[in-house]
This record gives sequence, C-alpha cells and structure tokens, in this order.
Amino acid sequence: MGFGRGKVILLGEHAVVHGFAAIAVGIEQGVRAKAAVARRDLLRLTPWSLALEPDPASEEPLERAFAAALASYPGRPPLEVHAWVDLPAGAGLGCSAAIGVAVLDAIDELLGIERSRAALGAAALAWERVFHGNPSGIDNTMSAVGGVALFRKGVPLEPLHSNKALHLVIGYSGEASSTKDMVDSVTRQLDRDPDRVRKAFEGIESLVLNAKLAIEAGDHVALGQLIDLNHTILSSLMLCTTKLDAMCQIARAAGALGAKMTGAGGGGCMFALAAKLEEAHHIRDVLGTGAFVAEVSR
Ligand code: PMV
Repeated sequence: MGFGRGKVILLGEHAVVHGFAAIAVGIEQGVRAKAAVARRDLLRLTPWSLALEPDPASEEPLERAFAAALASYPGRPPLEVHAWVDLPAGAGLGCSAAIGVAVLDAIDELLGIERSRAALGAAALAWERVFHGNPSGIDNTMSAVGGVALFRKGVPLEPLHSNKALHLVIGYSGEASSTKDMVDSVTRQLDRDPDRVRKAFEGIESLVLNAKLAIEAGDHVALGQLIDLNHTILSSLMLCTTKLDAMCQIARAAGALGAKMTGAGGGGCMFALAAKLEEAHHIRDVLGTGAFVAEVSR
C-alpha cells in the first residue's frame, strides 16, 4: 500500500517559498493508494467518487498531475491507481502533495522500484508543480519523510530530534482556500513593497531558527510563544481570516501554549500546541467539530 502523510507547518510558511527556512511535521493522517495493472490508465479517488484519466492538457489539475506522474515511468503497463484520501483538501495540510506521494509510492511498489522516502518526496515535486506553480517543496518532502524537520529550498532536509513529543491540535475553519492564490498574493506584496515583506520574511526566519532550538531543548513554552508571533506576522501579510483568528484565540484561552494558522492561509487550518496529551484532548473538545489531535515525536 502506498502512503503519503499530511503535514503541518509549525513555522515559516510563505517565507519558505522565497528561500527562507521553515519547520514542519508529518502527521499520521494522510492518503493511502494501491496500483494495479489494468486495461487503461485510471486514477480513482475516494471519498470524492472521482475516476480520472491522465491528460497533460486537461483543465482538471488532478488529470494533469496524474499524467506527469505516469510520464516518469517509461515502458510501464496501463495502470489503475486507487487513492483513499483522509485529509481535507485546500486546508493547509498538504492534501495534494500527500495524494502525489501515495500514488507514486503505490506505483513503485507494483513495479518493484525501490527508492528512499526522500527520493520519493523529490519525485512528487512534479505533481505539486501542477497544483501550485511555484511550490517550495516542503509539502511533498514532509509527506514522504515525516517526523519533525527544518526545510529550506534546495538544501537537504534537516531532521530535528527531541525527547519530548509535540502534542498538536488541528482545527479546520471550513473555509477552503487556494495555495496558488495565497502564494501569488504574497508575491504581489513582495513586488509592491519589497522592504516591508522581506523584513516580515526575516522576522519569520528568526522565529524559525529559535523554534529549532526550543524543539531540540524540549522547551514548548518558548515554542508556543514563537508560534504566536509567527501567526501575527502572517496576519500582517493578510493571510489570516476572522474565523482562523477566533479559533486560535479559543485554543489559547483553553490552555494552548501557542496557536497559529498553518499552510497557505486565507482559510484552511490552524493548529495549537498543548503541553500534554490530556490538554490537547481538552483543546480539541473546545474547538469542536472536525478538530483532531496529532502527536508527533522524533
Ligand atoms: O496550504 P498548503 O498545505 O498547500 O501549504 C502551503 C505552504 C506554502 O508555504 C504557503 C507554499 C509552499 O509551497 O511552501
């Protein structure tokens, strides 16, 4: 069975597109896929009841992405791939990358191709490009590799080690957003006002580098404060919504050490950092429908 996990960016989204560092975690919730030799190429997606044929010229990004994935297997037989998606789409949890990683992983398994998870993640960048135009590569990399890691474009992933697990609560605002539109909006701000936006990116990177130290030292109180500050900078780039802000405030009032939007913003998800698993369960219950707990170690 092929597998691509979802990811949560703890700090550094958007700045990461422009070459700055970010920290992300892989979560257990993700996409599973199975490939089989068939009469024609087909991608089935559950629970969306979609059956798509690969087409590099299609208006449907999944059909273009499937064509890009199949193009990397010269001489293969016709393939039917079935993917089971257990992540909200357009929600900042890296759903499109997780589908890409799971589909490639399933095809590798069927064809007996062996490669490292890092190489699998790198191969899924072609899939991500179909969706986002200019992806940093953090989603496909974290989807394949998992754990907790510092990512910077073009540099090998730096896994972060700690003897203390991270207790995260992930909440979905119910507002879908387009990563491409949000990345384009930040790039437009950067073109119009380079000094202000570069300062915002530099501020985010110094939070990221301190967060790396806090994670390694197991200092989750400091990490929570850095997460809150990153949320404020993302708000100043107009990436946050009233709903996401309210959810972060609710989580902090319920005892979270820190809370922020995650991923592209303009909707999608937020997450909160809890001191302990029981506190994470309490924050999940207060956030209500759809919120879930993710425990990340390594
Ligand atoms: O919302 P998501 O899961 O697609 O995350 C996007 C993260 C960005 O930094 C906004 C874009 C990128 O390619 O890194």
